[in-house]
Amino acid sequence: MSVVILVGGQWGDEGKGKVIDLCADDVQMVVRSQGGNNAGHTVVTQGKQFAFHLIPSGILFPQTKCVIGHGVVVDPRAFLQELEAIRSEGVDVRNLVISDRAHMVMPYHPVLDKLSEQQLGDDRLGTTWRGIGPAYEDKVRRIGFRIGDLQKPVFLKKKLRFVLRLKNEALTRLYNSEPFDEQAILDEYLEYASRLEPYIKDIYPIVQTALGRGDKILLEGAQGAMLDVDLGTYPYVTSSAPTAGGACTGSGIPPSKITKTVGVFKAYTTRVGYGPFPTELTDTFGDKIRERGHEYGTTTGRARRVGWFDACVGRYSVNTNGINAIVLTKVDVLDEVDKIKVCTGYRSKGEEWSHPMANISHLKHCEPIYEELAGWNSSTTDCTTYDELPLNCRAYIAALEESCGARVDVVSVGPDRAQTLVRAPLV
Ligand code: GDP
Ligand code: IMO
Ligand code: MG
Repeated sequence: MSVVILVGGQWGDEGKGKVIDLCADDVQMVVRSQGGNNAGHTVVTQGKQFAFHLIPSGILFPQTKCVIGHGVVVDPRAFLQELEAIRSEGVDVRNLVISDRAHMVMPYHPVLDKLSEQQLGDDRLGTTWRGIGPAYEDKVRRIGFRIGDLQKPVFLKKKLRFVLRLKNEALTRLYNSEPFDEQAILDEYLEYASRLEPYIKDIYPIVQTALGRGDKILLEGAQGAMLDVDLGTYPYVTSSAPTAGGACTGSGIPPSKITKTVGVFKAYTTRVGYGPFPTELTDTFGDKIRERGHEYGTTTGRARRVGWFDACVGRYSVNTNGINAIVLTKVDVLDEVDKIKVCTGYRSKGEEWSHPMANISHLKHCEPIYEELAGWNSSTTDCTTYDELPLNCRAYIAALEESCGARVDVVSVGPDRAQTLVRAPLV
């Protein structure tokens, strides 16, 4: 049996989609366990590019069961759009299921997300405006709607009357915005109910049967450790738990069944949205990396902030997730860099730190301590084995392994499925 959690090790967009796609042929099930359509997971295969937001990145393999777990917040409108888009590409989606326990993003959630950001002004988080924070807020406040509620129209109507009163009060009084119409939401969501019906399932027996059979299961994380609501750079985080613990609660797979935790890291760092980023490069060199790496958001198209690899983040991520295998992506983006820096510590208020501190103001203003390594100045994109990588590139990878405390088992040297160097299998 092999039950593998795959998490983003940094601030998201590490290339998780590519890695899930790479492994999906070898597993029987892929489960998305948290986040929503704030995620954007890119898969490039045979010259075609797919961007998945809610649908697990294993969907391109028709024999692999793809599960949207109950820890995910599902916007039915976005889900159906994504489903139609991939079906029109000829993708077989019959093996896709959504947990009836997953919460829904309701029409007022994205509106409240945007209004709350506008009200925060300079203190805004830079959310994706997909309503993810407000949807999780309602879940925890116990006034959320679950996918399974779509199958209970009388309950849906009664609950909506109660919840919408609260939402409209906030919209009109707090934000001076337009209220939502109860009947319009009901009509819209009951239409979704019939279209979603074939996919809605109680995933408990599905997941337990797979575990009982000894199937290989891959848990697809969204976002990254530093965006975790508990472990990340709070409040500049998302509203779910993208770390390994969240994968268990969001799927119903217990920690004792997990056989491996894979952390996906970029060979440098990026971040979308606001919040501390000690190794950020705000100069023309940063612009060069952004262009070479096409660092523009898959979901919102925003330019990603770019910086050196931060091994304090790396080690923190390895230790808090229990990562025992690293996938290092976008190594090719550093192919033309003379000297590469790795942050191994922070200096803040006369103290040295080896991990990100909770005080985000200190993290924002800390001075990164760098180790400098020689670049390799040659192309890695056509390498087909690890040993073909230039010596300095392998030395860089060894330095990251040493400073993060985990082995790099897979190296990615381009967006395509084929541009992957496997030192040890992930699943
Ligand atoms: P995710 O959210 O972690 O799945 O990552 P995204 O898909 O948002 O962003 C990663 C981007 O990098 C995508 O455009 C991928 O196609 C691309 N990518 C993945 N691995 C590599 C790589 O090794 N080299 C290059 N140049 N691009 C890559
Ligand atoms: P994937 O799965 C990168 C960021 C947003 C913002 C913060 C909160 O593609 O790696 P939210 O809309 O979640 O309330 O926004 O989190 N964010 C991501 N950044 N990759 C993602 O997903 C992200 N999902 C959310 O930019 O800073
Ligand atoms: Mg992404």
